[in-house]
Amino acid sequence: MSADPGLTVRAAAKINLYLGVGPVRPDGFHPLATVYQAIGLYDDVTVADADRWSVSIEAAPGIAGDQVPLGADNIAVRAGRSLAARHGLDRAAAIAIHKGIPVAGGLAGGSADAAATLLALDRLWELDTPEDELLALAGDLGSDVPFALLGGTASGHGRGELVEPVADRGSWWWVVVGNETGLSTPAVYRAFDEHTGTAHDPVIPAALFAALAAGEADRLAASLANDLHEPALAVRPDLGRTFAHGRSAGALATLLSGSGPTVLLLARDATHARLLAAELGSLGHERVWVAPGPVAGAHQLTGLIG
Ligand code: C5P
Repeated sequence: MSADPGLTVRAAAKINLYLGVGPVRPDGFHPLATVYQAIGLYDDVTVADADRWSVSIEAAPGIAGDQVPLGADNIAVRAGRSLAARHGLDRAAAIAIHKGIPVAGGLAGGSADAAATLLALDRLWELDTPEDELLALAGDLGSDVPFALLGGTASGHGRGELVEPVADRGSWWWVVVGNETGLSTPAVYRAFDEHTGTAHDPVIPAALFAALAAGEADRLAASLANDLHEPALAVRPDLGRTFAHGRSAGALATLLSGSGPTVLLLARDATHARLLAAELGSLGHERVWVAPGPVAGAHQLTGLIG
């Protein structure tokens, strides 16, 4: 056992304030016009040099850490290998993940782990990979891995991997209503193709940019939208009850997080968020968190900085 304490990077969950989906592309992905926001639920990823690649998970209460694959297909291991390959290095690392982001929830927890691993190993191995190259490696790993590096509030185009910061003057408060059963992202996109479909490439509404720039919660509430809402409800009709609970509790708006099944409630402020969370708890929801946004992208917590 090595005494090396390793190096820790924190990465946040993401939500999509707007998720516009276009017709499926020849490569099987869908063109997106989305606005991402990083919110205050975190995974902490600690890396240390090792003879072979490994990953271990420790989960916060209410998080199904046992649902994360631990083999070579783990996205954090794939991230580490891709960074080593990019630099022609024959090195490996032990990756220890503390999960505070619900698994398979539509909050991009796996993408957060991949982004955190890229940054952590870049620092541990003193590689100084240029930011655009790190973003390109991230985009190859998954559509929302680049945003997990960037954080804050950002637009996403292409299949979601092309990210640009967006002006956001708000201090938003979200209630995150998790679900004990995860939802497969490809299954929701299939339902989109079968039931919803669209002929047009999506565009982010100007009203959303204006609401973010003004920092006004009522305006933001009116411009939140997710094209995966109907398809997710087709796959998981039980989510209708969660949305109804959010509305009856007095949320400014309810929104499906990414491809679901997590449901987001927009609150007026932190106090309102705590009241909403308590109300959802009393309605029988066991996995409820309060999270502010926007928060930072992947950043180093421990180890030598410099
Ligand atoms: O890029 P990522 O690995 O996160 O995507 C997971 C799955 O979600 C893809 O295999 C695809 O089925 C679906 N997807 C999509 N269009 C996107 C992003 C994801 O169809 N823009």
